[in-house]
Amino acid sequence: MNKILVVDDQKTVCYSIQRLLQSEGYDVLTASNGTDALSIINHKKPDLVIMDVRMPEMDGLEVLGKIKESHPDVQVIMMTAFSTTEKAIQAMKLGAYDYLTKPFDNNGLLIRVNGAIKARDLMKEVVTLDEIEDYEGERIVGKSPAMLNIYKQIGKVAPTDATVLIRGESGAGKELAARAIYHYSKRSAKPFLAINCAAIPEHLLESELFGYERGAFTGADFKKIGKFEQCSGGTVFLDEIGDMSLGLQAKILRILQDGAFERLGGSETIKTDVRIVAATNKHLEDMVKEGLFREDLYYRLNVVSISLPPLRERKEDIKELAAYFIKKFNRKLGKNIKGITQEALEGLKEHSWTGNVRELENTIQKAMVFCNSDYLSIECCENLNLQKIGSCASVEDAIENLVNLAFKDGCHERFQDMMSMIEKGMVKRAMELTKGNQVHAAKLLGISRNTLRKKLGEE
Ligand SMILES: Nc1ncnc2c1ncn2[C@@H]1O[C@H](COP(=O)(O)OP(=O)(O)OP(=O)(O)O)[C@@H](O)[C@H]1O
Ligand SMILES: [Mg+2]
Repeated sequence: MNKILVVDDQKTVCYSIQRLLQSEGYDVLTASNGTDALSIINHKKPDLVIMDVRMPEMDGLEVLGKIKESHPDVQVIMMTAFSTTEKAIQAMKLGAYDYLTKPFDNNGLLIRVNGAIKARDLMKEVVTLDEIEDYEGERIVGKSPAMLNIYKQIGKVAPTDATVLIRGESGAGKELAARAIYHYSKRSAKPFLAINCAAIPEHLLESELFGYERGAFTGADFKKIGKFEQCSGGTVFLDEIGDMSLGLQAKILRILQDGAFERLGGSETIKTDVRIVAATNKHLEDMVKEGLFREDLYYRLNVVSISLPPLRERKEDIKELAAYFIKKFNRKLGKNIKGITQEALEGLKEHSWTGNVRELENTIQKAMVFCNSDYLSIECCENLNLQKIGSCASVEDAIENLVNLAFKDGCHERFQDMMSMIEKGMVKRAMELTKGNQVHAAKLLGISRNTLRKKLGEE
């Protein structure tokens, strides 16, 4: 049963509140001054204190300060006889959950009491960040049996020079796994180059990978060294290999078989020593049947294949992942969130996460922007109903919705968070819409390419 302490020098006030709350099933204690109240709090550990501001000897705000010093988890609702905003603001600043202006009706009191008790219950069941290492950079997180198995496979294959095909749904961590293979390989001192085969148009991809000779095509004013040549001794990560054209697939096959290729427009055969790690979220076997993926390349790539399990099949990892991302974004957003409530964690576990770890990461980041308390709560996550903004009839409506979200709880810093979120979102979409072409994306956004590069964090 939740315990509530009522503190007021007017005994009648104490008794009437006590009776009301007892009838609601609470265990209610009373005190008529601050000193008694502090001693009861020490010994009986109530969940909630309802306290008058004006009391002889120690006034309510002073007692509130002391409670928050020694028992920060205890919720406090202050009562004032006059609606002096100054006292109310001071009380909230000192950490009160809420305040009531006397005289108040029973309903108003009960709503606040129930809210404070709920907040207190949620605080009791929080997941803190203590167990998890500090964020020192990207790493693979998760201790589910499925992930332990992945670590074993990475550990076995990394030191060999074998070609590896990493499979898994979007956002499941394929690139992270590729980087881990590189990190633990003999080639870790040599370069790692990642190429997203889906993001680059075919002719550009070909010149990126193999380079070209001067005069190979109009505009080829100088010789260009391709990734396979630059990366000799290192590792090339071919991301989204299922999106590669059949022509290029043949050239990749030759690199795998003989380590040989020619630059575009050149006749000299160049030898290179690269390890290829490839990734795809496509069903390559079906593509082979449909004639969209070369069978010989498929067998060459598939020598060792690592399949990352989707997040919904390893929900036990969500707790550790959430804690890891909170640490990551505490650092990036300059926040100090201490953990997540059990209720919010359960909510995260119920979701199906079709976008896998990336979706979870984005969700935590956005929830942290909206979170105004020490722990990420279900309310912070529910604020994420941003789809609403997408369906607004006008720009004014959309802005109004954003402003309301930013002003919720009166936190002005959110305005800045919101601005940077909108900007990042627009830049990201512009890059997607122009398929990664910075010149076109900058034009779309009406900014210079240099400014775009800065916003993309490239400078
Ligand atoms: N197990 C994990 N631990 C920590 N972070 C992870 C984990 N898996 C994925 N991530 C993070 O989630 C995001 C997506 O991961 P990654 O880019 O490796 O996925 P992907 O499978 O390559 O996705 P896509 O198919 O969309 O390219 C990254 O920010 C990555 O750091
Ligand atoms: Mg990827």
